[in-house]
Amino acid sequence: VLGWFYVFPAYRLPSDKEIVEEVLGLGEAWKKNQTGIDLYRNLLTECCNPRWMFSVTKENAPIGKVLWYDGEYYYSHTVNNETYSIFVQTTPLKPLKKCAVVGNGGILRHSKCGRDIDQADFVMRCNLPPLTKEYLADVGNKTHLVTANPSIIEKRFQGLFWSRKAFVDYLKAYGSSFIYMPAFSMRPGTDPSLRAYYAITDSPSNLTMLFANPDFLRNVGKFWKARGVHAMRLSTGLFLVSLALGMCDEVTVYGFWPFSIGLDGQPISHHYYDNILPGKWFHAMPEEFVQLWHLHKSGTLRVKVGSCR
Ligand code: CDP
Repeated sequence: VLGWFYVFPAYRLPSDKEIVEEVLGLGEAWKKNQTGIDLYRNLLTECCNPRWMFSVTKENAPIGKVLWYDGEYYYSHTVNNETYSIFVQTTPLKPLKKCAVVGNGGILRHSKCGRDIDQADFVMRCNLPPLTKEYLADVGNKTHLVTANPSIIEKRFQGLFWSRKAFVDYLKAYGSSFIYMPAFSMRPGTDPSLRAYYAITDSPSNLTMLFANPDFLRNVGKFWKARGVHAMRLSTGLFLVSLALGMCDEVTVYGFWPFSIGLDGQPISHHYYDNILPGKWFHAMPEEFVQLWHLHKSGTLRVKVGSCR
């Protein structure tokens, strides 16, 4: 049976209702396809070398290396003594078995997926999401890697110019995970990312800061563009899925559902914790979902929507 992925021409995205019908139509059926998994690992390794290039390291960004910002036109940072000294030596990432990539979609609310998520060997989350008690059953609390957008540092923590306590306290929810920041993507993001690094290292924290490698972000952007994702910039979630596909035997994604209605046809909030809609980047997310769904149908990764119980 051909789903809408094949039936609808590329220039028209299915409506939210059509997506719901498609997803419900397939039901819970899912079968792992090792050939698909190997294929995507090879494709991603070839283009983007996720495990080694995901973050800047002393190895891939020695002193003098020019880091061209992936989100700016013609702007770069040349690695100097100061920046070199705060990079990790080499990639801290190892090949993994079961990975969970947790997006922030409202579909997670009342999903009861917390236990499933926490059972993965490696759990990745986006944008310092709340992991408080009220969400525990739905999203779990285990974290191995969490991304942080520099704008969060500016908006929520006063740019870390004043007290850093609120920031350091907030990060306790992520235990001893990696915190991943795009320090060399957009010009205004660099300083807050460096301040976040110092806030963490100057306090008794077990977190390890990883700075996103702009070459990796750019290459992953090209990879998905060639597959029909037409956006200025990919969503945070798709960068993490790309890392996971390059590094993990089994990838399950949760909280990826950028649509206005849930599987029951009722309105759904954008995030599991609020309903603040994103700005101009939003338009890419449905296209990204189409890609993820395609991978789900081919058994390459598993898209979990709906309830886990
Ligand atoms: O920073 P960004 O707006 O990309 O992300 P977010 O709103 O904090 O959510 C994290 C990720 O979850 C996004 O990058 C998307 O990949 C995914 N997401 C989704 O698929 N559907 C939603 N309704 C919300 C987020």
